[in-house]
Amino acid sequence: GIDIGTLRSATGLVTLDPGYKNTGSTTSAITFLDGEKGVLRYRGYNIEELAEKASFLEVAYLIIFGELPDQASLTKFQTDVTNHTLIHEDMRKIFDGFPTTSHPMVVLSSLISVLSTFYPGSMESNRSDEEVYMSIVRLIAKVPTIAAWSYKNEMGHPVNYPDNSLNYGARFLKMMFALPTQEYDIDPVMVSALNKILILHADHEQNCSTSTIRIVGSSLANIYASVASATNALSGPLHGGANQQVIEMLEAIHSSGATIDEFMEKVKNREMRLMGFGHRVYKNFDPRAKILKKACDDILSKMGIEDPLLDIAKKLEKIALEDEFFIERKLYPNVDFYSGIIYRAMNLPTDMFTVMFAMGRLPGWIAQWKEMLEMKQPIGRPRQIYTGENERSFVPMSDRK
Ligand code: ACO
Repeated sequence: GIDIGTLRSATGLVTLDPGYKNTGSTTSAITFLDGEKGVLRYRGYNIEELAEKASFLEVAYLIIFGELPDQASLTKFQTDVTNHTLIHEDMRKIFDGFPTTSHPMVVLSSLISVLSTFYPGSMESNRSDEEVYMSIVRLIAKVPTIAAWSYKNEMGHPVNYPDNSLNYGARFLKMMFALPTQEYDIDPVMVSALNKILILHADHEQNCSTSTIRIVGSSLANIYASVASATNALSGPLHGGANQQVIEMLEAIHSSGATIDEFMEKVKNREMRLMGFGHRVYKNFDPRAKILKKACDDILSKMGIEDPLLDIAKKLEKIALEDEFFIERKLYPNVDFYSGIIYRAMNLPTDMFTVMFAMGRLPGWIAQWKEMLEMKQPIGRPRQIYTGENERSFVPMSDRK
């Protein structure tokens, strides 16, 4: 029964805004987003141009350090990342302890957290710039290795060590899919699709996982603990977990034999949500979804794949764009609606989809963490309006009902 607004709490006036729908938590110079016009820019560069022309590591550098790297800076960054792709052999023992039923997203967040035990310098409150740089490099370098190994753990396959003669995307794909029993050929179409998809996910201002990293980091928790918290926030089905849910939903429609109209009726009756639709900020279209829809068509045709789920997705989108329920509520496809179909074409299992999102979002989390510290943002500590009981006397056990 409490409306959004400014209310009186025990200690003064407090603005109440559940879900922070209208609350700016910080200033930031990293990502510009115009939800009405469907504009997304990293450090001033339009997402369309970056997805077309840049490499993921180039965009990571841009987001984290503020400028596009010149050739020497990019070469140094790529070399530093390449030199740190291995994870400590003792960490492999931790993989062995996870049941093979573990969701790879949980393995990923746990092992990101564990990195601080191998790099105790990250725990010191007076971290040098060099230590911060190295922890950034380590995270960008090691997260793909951890991600691929969590998949291998789930499959019960031997892990592949990173092949440092390859670029970032190709190295990850080889760690994921190469088997000791057969040759693994890198498919350049897959590498380029991965590059684009990672760039599109690289930052998205103050979303749930990014707000998480800024608030956890504001307590001066170390970078690995902070990134692990963001990874956990991303795992939820209303955030990064939505890409897995989209494919599960499309598969369910495909196998149920129900018509798309029947499914849409259920959505409109609020029995379920149309996963991959709707966004807190984009109210006309999500520019990332536009790029991915086209990429999806291009990639599937280049790979010679026909996926019935893509047809279902397109039909759902077409119906939704003409239906009053969706128009009134300004619900459009978001980045997750088509990304899962590309991941399927790459043979990634559905429970790796959110891990892919985390790999892409990593530079954004790091940049926001770094910016938050450089701004000397005070510790995050929202207020509340108390709605519980007034003061009561303790009731002895014998008198409780
Ligand atoms: N399907 C059906 N109806 C929806 C959907 C959907 N996907 N999303 C919102 N609605 C409806 C709600 O029922 C509500 O209708 P009502 O006012 O009649 O009750 C209205 O639209 C507003 O919905 P909210 O939940 O208030 O919108 P909010 O901004 O809080 O939520 C969110 C945004 C979480 C993304 C929501 O649209 C959703 O759940 N989408 C599906 C999950 C998804 O795709 N998540 C990925 C988000 S993007 C990302 O993290 C990369």
